[in-house]
Amino acid sequence: MSSENTRVFPVEKSGKLDSRFRRWLHNPQKILRPYVKEGMSVLEVGCGPGFFTLDIARMAGKSGRVVAVDLQEGMLEIVREKIRGSGLEGNIVLHKCEVDRLGVSGSFDLVFLFYVVHEVPDRRALFRELVALLRDGGLVYVEEPPFEVSKKAFEETLRIAGSAGLVVTERPKRFPDKVAVLKKP
Ligand SMILES: C[S@@+](CC[C@H](N)C(=O)[O-])C[C@H]1O[C@@H](n2cnc3c(N)ncnc32)[C@H](O)[C@@H]1O
Repeated sequence: MSSENTRVFPVEKSGKLDSRFRRWLHNPQKILRPYVKEGMSVLEVGCGPGFFTLDIARMAGKSGRVVAVDLQEGMLEIVREKIRGSGLEGNIVLHKCEVDRLGVSGSFDLVFLFYVVHEVPDRRALFRELVALLRDGGLVYVEEPPFEVSKKAFEETLRIAGSAGLVVTERPKRFPDKVAVLKKP
């Protein structure tokens, strides 16, 4: 599953997700700091070329772990290269998922979804699976892009997440993106 699904961000353009401009616009440390703590178990869905992955692992520290999941093996291969020699090899697990099933096991403190939910055809199935993977009190961070995702579509995503059992706890302002933090009660 990759090029025939036009909803999915192509591996060939992954450099766009990893530019210096983006590092300024979406400063990973700034975005992650309020949510990622030492020792946490973090599930990153749609990690792409790993723009956030290594920062998440550093912030979760030696006792933490990151499971980074993507639909496209090409994206995971880029992350694999980044991890090599970083000292984080033991803290990051890469996993190739199916379009409608993550297929991950474990219990997570935080799920990180950056610019990915609009690419997933079945949001209901996604959030149901995420709720099952979250510990009680665990958080889901969702950020969606301004042009691809309308206000209405984002609200619909939050409604779907709500039906799956999540509660919105925060609406961080990161104009022009749409952002929400949800909790499994
Ligand atoms: C726009 S990119 C964002 C990547 C990364 N989160 C970032 O912000 O740099 C979206 C990523 O989600 C992945 N993706 C799309 N549909 C997916 C699905 N159903 N399950 C998991 N990953 C998916 C794509 O392969 C792509 O790498």
